[in-house]
Amino acid sequence: MSTSNSGSNEAWGSRIGLILAMAGNAVGLGNFLRFPRQAAANGGGSYMIAYFIALLLLGIPLMWIEWGVGRNGGRYRKGHLPGMFAAIWKHPLAKYCGVVGMVVPLGVMIYYTYIESWTLAFAIFSATKDYWGQTTQEGMIGYLRSFQGLTPEGGTTYHASWTPYAFFTFTLAVNIYILSRGISGGIEKLAKIGMPILFIFAIILAGVVLTLPPQEGIGATPLQGLEFIYKPDLSRLGEPGIWLAAAGQIFFTLSVGMGSLQAYASYLSTKDDIALNGIATASTNETAEVVLGGSIAIPAAVTFFGVAGAMQIAQGGSFDLGFATMPVVFQQIDKTLPIGNLLGVMWFGLLFFAGITSSVAMLTPITAFFREEFGFKRETVAWSLGGLALAIGMMHVTWLGHGFLDEWDYWVGTFGLVLVAVLETVVFIWIFKPDNAWKSIHMGADINIPKIFKFIMTYVTPLYLFIILTWWGKDEAIPILLNQRSAGSSNPVSDIDMPYITISRGILVAFVIVFLFIIRTAWKRNGYDDRKGFVELPTNRAEV
Ligand code: ALA
Repeated sequence: MSTSNSGSNEAWGSRIGLILAMAGNAVGLGNFLRFPRQAAANGGGSYMIAYFIALLLLGIPLMWIEWGVGRNGGRYRKGHLPGMFAAIWKHPLAKYCGVVGMVVPLGVMIYYTYIESWTLAFAIFSATKDYWGQTTQEGMIGYLRSFQGLTPEGGTTYHASWTPYAFFTFTLAVNIYILSRGISGGIEKLAKIGMPILFIFAIILAGVVLTLPPQEGIGATPLQGLEFIYKPDLSRLGEPGIWLAAAGQIFFTLSVGMGSLQAYASYLSTKDDIALNGIATASTNETAEVVLGGSIAIPAAVTFFGVAGAMQIAQGGSFDLGFATMPVVFQQIDKTLPIGNLLGVMWFGLLFFAGITSSVAMLTPITAFFREEFGFKRETVAWSLGGLALAIGMMHVTWLGHGFLDEWDYWVGTFGLVLVAVLETVVFIWIFKPDNAWKSIHMGADINIPKIFKFIMTYVTPLYLFIILTWWGKDEAIPILLNQRSAGSSNPVSDIDMPYITISRGILVAFVIVFLFIIRTAWKRNGYDDRKGFVELPTNRAEV
């Protein structure tokens, strides 16, 4: 059987470019928006203990597994999970299992880009002081809801109804343009510009926030915010919810289970290191999340609203902390240091760069699939995917208030990630065998990974994944399907919202069916023999 050699002969331009792109893939909205909210809403110090355990037993081993699966796929010029699985597991089912690695990144990319477009909008609203004057949390929430098209009957609106559509369309177009420029010409260039800007903005913001004086009538200091997150606290560790939330955050923040790390790694050769690069990427992400992400929104909210106030905000709407509280904080700071709007530009600007370096990554597995298996041109694939994302994204924009986005955030952005991780761990560690997996990860390696991780990858990570999947199934997935609760809250979906939720789920199911069909067509078209696997290509992509 031969491998269709059509498609991409792409490679990373430089090691620094690769690390920045991989880190850009991981560092995203999750680090600066999702993490602080989750940490505050789930008990601060207790959550952090569960978080670090999940990082050690799930995040880091899965990072290496994904780099390994991806780089191994690249030997056969496969940048997508169906091909990567089929390269290891010589079974007709292997390619179909990879379907989750197509549906998950596509699904996440669509709603993620929509949220990313809010950050661009708010960066501009900060520059023009558009929300200036909304100096209370309630006032800013009203402004945010207006932008989201969720102003209640009779409430004040601040934006034309087309505004969120325009920002989404523009943000998506920028993403697709970068994707269409390719790995070194688009994604790597974006990372080289976006990542330094993001870190500079984050360091400045953390510096400003951590030196804020206590406010009159509140009396809390930024350090109390840090203490709330970092002071170890064992009191809530008995709650399963804390462990599930922490594991979910580790997946999301590291981009584990999204198919995109594997796609990026497929552009590496067996002479390249993945052991050190993998841990370097995870460390960069964790620095951005725990050090910088933890030093901005929570300490700022604690300073101006007190510890109890900040916790209450965190337990409110998912985006209130980032999009309502922070603008209030910037306006407060502006009273003594007249750079409030500049800080707003930096905050939303850093979110935008964090977001876009992740969202472009999410379409790379599907782009690779159509290029490698059908020989389509990169631009054609990128803009066609853009058209699809635009059409479905419009539904997210229009039906946000009906729980459309929450539904996807659960099925693809939470549950789906764990599902991908389970499958790839079984394929790479159990079917390929731990020794082969270990050897594969160490090809070209600049470090020796401590042997204990072989044991963790073989037994502990799969067990941890199994427990999470079972628990989620029992506590969330089944109750959501039975409508005992909704994906976004503990209340059931109302009769009014149910049709939208049905459409939302229907699209995901349709994605699965269509991709299964396309995978089957690709295998037939290229004459692949499931039992023989692919022929390793004499020259690796990275050397072409
Ligand atoms: N890893 C990306 C984030 O944290 C998806 O937003």
